[in-house]
Amino acid sequence: MTSKVIFIVVLIAIICGFSVFNTQNGGNNMVLAKGKDTKSLVVYFSRTGQQYSVGNITEGNTAIIGKMIAKETNADIFEIKVVKDEYPTNDYTALTQVAKVEKQQNARPAIVGKVEDFSKYDVIFIGYPNWWADMPMPVYTFLDSYDFTGKTIAPFCTHEGSGLSGTEANFKKHTKAETVANGLAIYGHTAQNSRAEAESKVKTWLKGLGY
Ligand SMILES: Cc1cc2nc3c(=O)[nH]c(=O)nc-3n(C[C@H](O)[C@H](O)[C@H](O)COP(=O)(O)O)c2cc1C
Repeated sequence: MTSKVIFIVVLIAIICGFSVFNTQNGGNNMVLAKGKDTKSLVVYFSRTGQQYSVGNITEGNTAIIGKMIAKETNADIFEIKVVKDEYPTNDYTALTQVAKVEKQQNARPAIVGKVEDFSKYDVIFIGYPNWWADMPMPVYTFLDSYDFTGKTIAPFCTHEGSGLSGTEANFKKHTKAETVANGLAIYGHTAQNSRAEAESKVKTWLKGLGY
């Protein structure tokens, strides 16, 4: 009997400990910067699997750029992940079709977790792959979920020819951000296969933003 009680108490302690750890880290899709409290946040949506011109990738093109920006600016990171992930990973054409339907429906797929203490950030870098000359719909879910009043949004995207497709304007339309900076567009295959070139573009862009 006593050992049963001890077992249950230990189990509860482990579960509580884990949830405190998880909250402090904003869930498993948030990575906090080391060192002093940062006022910059990098948010991105990115896909692995079969992608245009780069084949089957294990780290998304936009994720690569997002991590470079976070490293340069000592920002926290929040990855936008959907709760019900039905995006095909082994068939690029099938993925484009799913994305097309979502865009046509102006869908707002539910996303996992949330940014802890969103109000403390001054600058939010938001990254996404260009999908059908637009942002993937989960990015809109993210925009709808937070109050951007007084904040600066710095958009970045990866693409395979279309650049930002004017998506910077969507942040003005869908948020109350005070400033939307000139965005950064990098080819997905450059992010994936020419890291030094991508990093140099990231640094130049950040310099232009005053970093
Ligand atoms: C659904 C879908 C739609 C896309 N539409 C475009 C497009 O309109 N213009 C473009 O240049 N690239 C387009 N692409 C290519 C992606 O923007 C590019 O491969 C990007 O780097 C993928 O980034 P990720 O690995 O972070 O998801 C599309 C890719 C997908 C999957």
